[in-house]
Amino acid sequence: MGIQRIESVTYGIDDLGACVRFFDAFGLFPVEKSDEHAVFETLTGQTLHLDTEPGPRLPAPVEEGPTLREVVWGVDTQEELERLVAAAGKDRAVRAGADGVHHTVDETGFGVGLTVARHKPVAAAPRPANAPGAVSRWNTPLEPVPRVRPLRMCHVALNIPRAGREEAIAFYTRRLGFRPTDVVEPMGVFMQAPGDDDQHTMLLCHRPDKAGINHIAYEVPGFDEVIQGGNHMIERGWREARRLGRHTVGSNVFRFLHAPCGGRVEYAADMDRVDDSYETRVHETTPPHHIWALRTNRDQDAPAF
Ligand SMILES: [Fe+2]
Repeated sequence: MGIQRIESVTYGIDDLGACVRFFDAFGLFPVEKSDEHAVFETLTGQTLHLDTEPGPRLPAPVEEGPTLREVVWGVDTQEELERLVAAAGKDRAVRAGADGVHHTVDETGFGVGLTVARHKPVAAAPRPANAPGAVSRWNTPLEPVPRVRPLRMCHVALNIPRAGREEAIAFYTRRLGFRPTDVVEPMGVFMQAPGDDDQHTMLLCHRPDKAGINHIAYEVPGFDEVIQGGNHMIERGWREARRLGRHTVGSNVFRFLHAPCGGRVEYAADMDRVDDSYETRVHETTPPHHIWALRTNRDQDAPAF
């Protein structure tokens, strides 16, 4: 099989206090903290590392300021891990860390790790909905949304330079086994990890034509959590990066926030699931960014009521 999921990510940051407040409000679980670094966890056991002094064990940052330094991918078996380490190491050094993670670097300069996945199972379902002929909630008013807790990091979007993008993509497809699901020629390539069902596990985006972190998405059970998670972040003073909407590619409902660790983070729900029968779609022009996005004239034109 091969890569199943994002296992951990590491950001090099400058303001640890702000980053800790941000991800605490975002709903991740704190598991470790010192004066230099902090670690958070999702419900499925993926870890987020925030490090003010990442040191020389990681490649140099690809952009100025706080940014993503490494994505560690979780693999299903030790045999698959060894196969992928050998494939990645054909033309570059791969360093075995004491923690069972093998570290290398991709074509853009982002750190890439490989390890055996340690998946914590979690049961999650959207809150039951009602419609005529499709009632799934009898005699049960909905309760307020409890504290939003992201289930998992479901995809990472990286910006890459336009020049050399074929090689950047080939590292993930030919060496690490990712499969392009949607190729948007003017914008980037959406890819699925072999062990993932999501329409994309990763996006390499060349539209900004420079290397950097674009965003990491965190799946929550349903729309209530996407909306209420964003509301909670706004209440805590964090800044929304995009209006609530539903993407065209992937169909996920999204809400984005600017993150003090660099780039943005996304609350996501209800992404398309695709299997091997989903053939790679090639788009010569960029599809609309979203199927819908929240619009309001409440604040400008409408009477206040
Ligand atoms: Fe996304």
